[in-house]
Amino acid sequence: MTLKNKTVWITGASSGIGKAFAKAYFKEGANLILSSRRTEALEEVKTEIDPSSDRIQILPLDLAQSNTFASKTQEALSFFGNIDVLINNGGISQRSIFEETDLDTIRKLMEVNFFGSVGLTREVLPSMIEQGSGHIIATSSVAGKFGSKFRTGYAASKHALHGFFDSLRQECYEHNIAVTLVCPGPIKTDITKNAVTGDGSSYGKMGDMHEDAMTADEMVANIWSPLMNRKEEIVIAPLKIKLALWMKRLNPSLLNKILKNQKVT
Ligand SMILES: NC(=O)c1ccc[n+]([C@@H]2O[C@H](COP(=O)([O-])OP(=O)(O)OC[C@H]3O[C@@H](n4cnc5c(N)ncnc54)[C@H](OP(=O)(O)O)[C@@H]3O)[C@@H](O)[C@H]2O)c1
Repeated sequence: MTLKNKTVWITGASSGIGKAFAKAYFKEGANLILSSRRTEALEEVKTEIDPSSDRIQILPLDLAQSNTFASKTQEALSFFGNIDVLINNGGISQRSIFEETDLDTIRKLMEVNFFGSVGLTREVLPSMIEQGSGHIIATSSVAGKFGSKFRTGYAASKHALHGFFDSLRQECYEHNIAVTLVCPGPIKTDITKNAVTGDGSSYGKMGDMHEDAMTADEMVANIWSPLMNRKEEIVIAPLKIKLALWMKRLNPSLLNKILKNQKVT
């Protein structure tokens, strides 16, 4: 599939994985619409990719403000006339034990990670159905496949994405719209620094697993071929985590026993 003259709308494009997606799609000739809350950070991404390009538009939005999604989508459609690829990537993680976690913090994780992706998809989908094609991508996580300590709300929000997008995919085949769930293990981004603690404040530190992990650019390069082939689910994680995914299927209670003793940061 050629990406020339295709339009890609990316949430969470101001940093990490979203920024890496933006660079890769731009290189292949796509038009970009970059979204997240921080306009200045989005401008910096544009400057880094190509400051003078008319193929990059900035569209600030807050994934927790679903009442803005209809008008934001109209604005997005007005830039290049249509949207071929929607990448629901923006999200926040969690670092807190459940008993010390406010319900509002769990709600925030669900609002941004789940309802943000679902709400935007709901607004974009009719235009994809009308044009008879499209690719909807969601950045889930291996935490969408099995739970782990300190991630109750995060894992719930990512598991919810699987239930939603696996169901939506079945409704979309007839419209030639593909749905891909990308499930990364640790990737070296600001995700742990930006993770919420129990009271909703930022964790502020890079996790050990993330410090030594592959970069977001490496991640996107590694998944590029299956992504372009519109694979339904892509796991990109170290062997240890891939083995855990197998164990989740074959012997989930053994996995739980192993994970309960695991040091997680
Ligand atoms: N890095 C990992 O190890 C890892 C592993 C598995 C899955 N993931 C997933 O990958 C996605 C991207 O994360 P990342 O690793 O690139 O982390 P990151 O560097 O912290 O990037 C998160 C992005 O989400 C945006 N965002 C956060 N809250 C938002 C909101 N309320 N509204 C709009 N945008 C919001 C941020 O932009 P603003 O601050 O400008 O809003 C930023 O662009 C997330 O969904 C994450 O769960 C990451």
